[in-house]
Amino acid sequence: MKQPVRVAVTGAAGQICYSLLFRIASGEMLGNDQPVILQLLEITPALKVLEAVKMELNDCAFPLLQEVVCTDDPAVAFKDADYGLMVGAKPRGPGMERADLLKDNGKIFSTLGKIINDVASANMKICVVGNPANTNAYILMKNAPNLNPRNITALTRLDHNRAIYQLAAKTGKAMSGIRKMTIWGNHSTTQVPDITHTTVDNAAATDMVDSDWVNNEFMPKVAKRGAEVIAARGSSSAASAANGVVDHMRSWVLGTEEGDWVSMAVYSDGSYGIEAGLIYSYPVTCQNGDWKIVTGLENSEFINKQMKASEKELQEERDTCSDLFA
Ligand code: NAD
Ligand code: LMR
Repeated sequence: MKQPVRVAVTGAAGQICYSLLFRIASGEMLGNDQPVILQLLEITPALKVLEAVKMELNDCAFPLLQEVVCTDDPAVAFKDADYGLMVGAKPRGPGMERADLLKDNGKIFSTLGKIINDVASANMKICVVGNPANTNAYILMKNAPNLNPRNITALTRLDHNRAIYQLAAKTGKAMSGIRKMTIWGNHSTTQVPDITHTTVDNAAATDMVDSDWVNNEFMPKVAKRGAEVIAARGSSSAASAANGVVDHMRSWVLGTEEGDWVSMAVYSDGSYGIEAGLIYSYPVTCQNGDWKIVTGLENSEFINKQMKASEKELQEERDTCSDLFA
């Protein structure tokens, strides 16, 4: 039996976590041979609800779940954690953009970043979910200089999965046959869902759909899917977001499949002309618990222009909250 790993999760009494925690505990995220200890963080008024979540987790009798810690003290939640899933943050409502959340949510990530810097393992792998996810990850990174910036990522796997579904629905093919989908940039409406290098049952996706559909239906549909769910549901996506986190972490820790890649917002090394140091979504492959940006892809002028627009938005978001990091 493997040694248990510690998974710290913030916002643990919220909507996303009501799906996410059960899937972590069942072994779907880190493997069905990996025991887990859940270290759950909430704000004080939500601790009673969090206790109920703990009761339900225990009542599932998950064989891999070794312990559930509930706390409103971030120093307890992040102590010795191997993984940090940063979900706790305000969601947007109808008519809002994710960047409108920066003023309130940015503070959460600067505060937690400082605490993580003091108590967490330098190798803790972090996935930021709370919006605006890329910039919150950037704020956290700037406040946690002891951490390896490569270990601070943000979630664009939900967008990646949304793009796979849209392409499968259009082509009438199975989602399991779709490889090499890409989401570039920010988890916002400037994101760039890109099928240039995608294959469907080993054939080029671009040969199966016309560019008018790609540019005018597929791309805006994927980029605005979050708002579409909010309009229909009255609150933001939760189960699909949790699924994105499970996929993101599983790929990172257990590796991507041969001949495929996934989308993750990661610390930019300047690849594809994007400013180094931004948390930008790229196609990545993962092996041995590490990610690598896919290099050498030829992008059209159209895609390049959109990638730069998403970079610009990230630079602007960063510049509006520079008071939150040194
Ligand atoms: P929710 O309101 O249901 O839950 C959020 C929880 O966070 C609440 O229980 C709240 O008490 C808690 N919280 C607030 N401040 C906290 C803090 N400082 N420390 C710990 N916990 C804290 O919201 P949700 O639907 O679970 O969504 C959470 C976030 O995820 C939102 O910002 C939402 O926009 C974002 N989101 C991102 C993606 C993505 O793909 N990146 C997808 C869906 C949702
Ligand atoms: C999503 O993409 O569903 C989330 O980021 C929630 C939102 O605000 O759209």
